[in-house]
Amino acid sequence: MIRLAIAAASGSYEALIASGLIERAGAQLRQTLGERFSSALFVVTVAPVRRKWGRKLMRSLSAAGFQAKLIEMPDGESAKKLATVEQLADKLIRLAADRDAVLVAFGGGVVGDVTGLLASLYMRGVGLIQIPTTVLAQVDASIGGKTGVNLRAGKNLLGTFHPPRVVLMDPAVLSTLPDREFRAGLYEALKCGVIGRPELFGRLENANVRSLRRDPAWLEWVITESVKLKAEVVSNDEREGGLRRVLNFGHTIGHALEADSGYRRFLHGEAVAWGMVAEAHIARAQGQCDGVTAQRIIDAVLALGPLPKVTARSCDVLRLLQTDKKTRSGTVHFVLPRQIGRVQVVNNVPEKVIIGAVDELRRMVRRN
Ligand SMILES: NC(=O)c1ccc[n+]([C@@H]2O[C@H](COP(=O)([O-])OP(=O)(O)OC[C@H]3O[C@@H](n4cnc5c(N)ncnc54)[C@H](O)[C@@H]3O)[C@@H](O)[C@H]2O)c1
Ligand SMILES: [Zn+2]
Repeated sequence: MIRLAIAAASGSYEALIASGLIERAGAQLRQTLGERFSSALFVVTVAPVRRKWGRKLMRSLSAAGFQAKLIEMPDGESAKKLATVEQLADKLIRLAADRDAVLVAFGGGVVGDVTGLLASLYMRGVGLIQIPTTVLAQVDASIGGKTGVNLRAGKNLLGTFHPPRVVLMDPAVLSTLPDREFRAGLYEALKCGVIGRPELFGRLENANVRSLRRDPAWLEWVITESVKLKAEVVSNDEREGGLRRVLNFGHTIGHALEADSGYRRFLHGEAVAWGMVAEAHIARAQGQCDGVTAQRIIDAVLALGPLPKVTARSCDVLRLLQTDKKTRSGTVHFVLPRQIGRVQVVNNVPEKVIIGAVDELRRMVRRN
């Protein structure tokens, strides 16, 4: 089993990675929570995860002597709203969850973010365990302690920091993930490669996704390397002072593409994939990296599989970047690659370079 430590202001926690870990989750949580822990565990999940993996997890928890109850929330990004947090809190009250209760987020990033927020609010804060079940949640969302829900005005606008006690990652649960969801998460792993893990990038750039899905050791390595990168970054900058920003490679343009399509056309990772392509173009145009590096990034993204087409108009993307700038940081930041494994935050990219990069995405779609 691989153990990685993640530092947080409230104390450090571990991410444990091992194939088959779900079946040993009970024993593992005994070690984390202690023999004397006698309160209940409340496992929050969604129907697809419950159907495929619920019984295995619940069996393992009760075998370790836990009193564990499963509560279900609606599936999908549209359930990531405050109303869901309130409904779940009502359920916890009905199930007599007290302030010693521990919540277990068992699902993708949506379950993780909603359950995390709930755990930070319920009775002014109870314990949280993350058991992520998507590639995206394993390589990204379950690490770093951010929780949140969406508002009509935008994504993740309401949230807290509430680090988990431990994160249990079982790559075996990814076997039931739909292909598109699996690949969408891999783009975030590729992103980690570009930011600071050249070897990870190298192995993903030559990867055959089907073979990767069938190779547990390789998959475990990809997850581990990605988590190491994210853990290093958030351990040094939990609250996004500056360093944590590097994790946004591909996200400046990616977020704008998601917003432009009303969050319907792309999965998050797919929008980030196009964002990385556009930002590689920008880096080349700005002389941040050479043409070979930019092309390697673009080719690696495209090799990971088909992406929904980009139809966004460049002027709309630019307008969205400006709106985002007003509501968030005041400047449009780009994380640009300098070489594979090294990026730099840049905030003075000329509009015409941004427009050129988005035009290029549409041209690439037409060529294919
Ligand atoms: N907190 C953070 O730091 C952070 C970071 C990145 C992303 N996020 C958030 O994560 C969310 C996206 O997460 P996601 O991509 O995991 O989406 P998701 O949680 O919606 O899961 C995707 C789909 O996969 C299904 N699923 C999950 N595990 C499965 C399994 N093992 N087998 C079969 N089906 C399974 C789910 O039911 C769902 O339909 C976004 O809301 C995003 O904002 C948070
Ligand atoms: Zn992301």
